[in-house]
Amino acid sequence: MRVLVLNGSPRGEKSNTHAILTPFIEGLREAGAEVETLVVRDLDIGFCQGCLACWFRTPGECRQKDDMALVLEKAYASDFVVFATPLYHFGMTALLKRLLERTLPMVDPRLVKYGDRYGHPLRAAARKPGRYILISNCGFPERVHFGALVEHFRYLTGGRGPAATILVGGGEALGRTYRPGPDGPFAWFFDALRRAGREIAFHGRLSPETDKLLQRPLVPDDDYAAMANASFEGALKEEREQRETS
Ligand SMILES: Cc1cc2nc3c(=O)[nH]c(=O)nc-3n(C[C@H](O)[C@H](O)[C@H](O)COP(=O)(O)O)c2cc1C
Repeated sequence: MRVLVLNGSPRGEKSNTHAILTPFIEGLREAGAEVETLVVRDLDIGFCQGCLACWFRTPGECRQKDDMALVLEKAYASDFVVFATPLYHFGMTALLKRLLERTLPMVDPRLVKYGDRYGHPLRAAARKPGRYILISNCGFPERVHFGALVEHFRYLTGGRGPAATILVGGGEALGRTYRPGPDGPFAWFFDALRRAGREIAFHGRLSPETDKLLQRPLVPDDDYAAMANASFEGALKEEREQRETS
C-alpha cells in the first residue's frame, strides 16, 4: 500500500499536525505501507488563475509549471491521500486550499448528473487518485468546530466522505511535540494514532474502538481553556515587559 501525506500546516514540521502525523505514519509503516510526506508550505504551487486553459486549450494540463504536476503524479500512484490541516477560520488552511484548487485539470468541464445533482466527471486520462483521509486539529477545545471542514470534505469526496477522519480538539495541548514511548500525558493518544495507522494499512479503515479513543478530549475542555488563557496572559505580560525595558 502506498500513502501520500500532505501536511498543510504553515508551521510545517514544527506543528501539532506534524506531532499527530508522526505516530500515525509510524503505524502505517509498521504494517508495511510505503509512506511519502509532502509539507505543502515547502512546495512551489501557484494559485489557480481561473483561466480554464486546463479545460479547453490544453485539456487536462495546467499552464503553470510548478510542483503541482508532481503532487498529482504522486496522488495518482497512492492508495490513500492524507489531507492534514490545522483548522483555520473553521476550514482548511489557504495552503491546502490552494493545492486543491489546482486539481481542476483532473476533471472534464461537462456537467453530468450524479444522483440528485450535477458534477464534473473525472477525466478519462486522469488515473483515479487514492481514497482520502482527513486529519485536523484546532485551537478551541471542542470537536464541534470541525463541522464546516467535515462537510467541505464530504462534498469534495462526492458525498461519500473520507475513508477515515481524525479530528483533534485542543490541539495546542500537544505543544507541537510528539513524545514517543509510554510516558507523558498523551501516550494513550499517540498510541491510538499508531494503531490507527496500522488499521488503515491492514483494513483501509479505523476500527470503532480506535475511532472512539481518538475522539477522547486530550484535556477536559475547561482545564484546556484555563491553561490556554494563562499561557496567553503570560505571553502578553512578557511582551509588555520587554517593550517597557527596551
Ligand atoms: C489564522 C488562524 C486561524 C485559526 N482558526 C481557528 C479556528 O477557526 N478554530 C480553531 O479552533 N482554531 C483556530 N486556529 C488555531 C489552530 O487551529 C491551532 O493553533 C492548531 O493547533 C494549529 O495547528 P498546527 O500547529 O498543526 O499548525 C487558528 C489559527 C490561526 C493561526
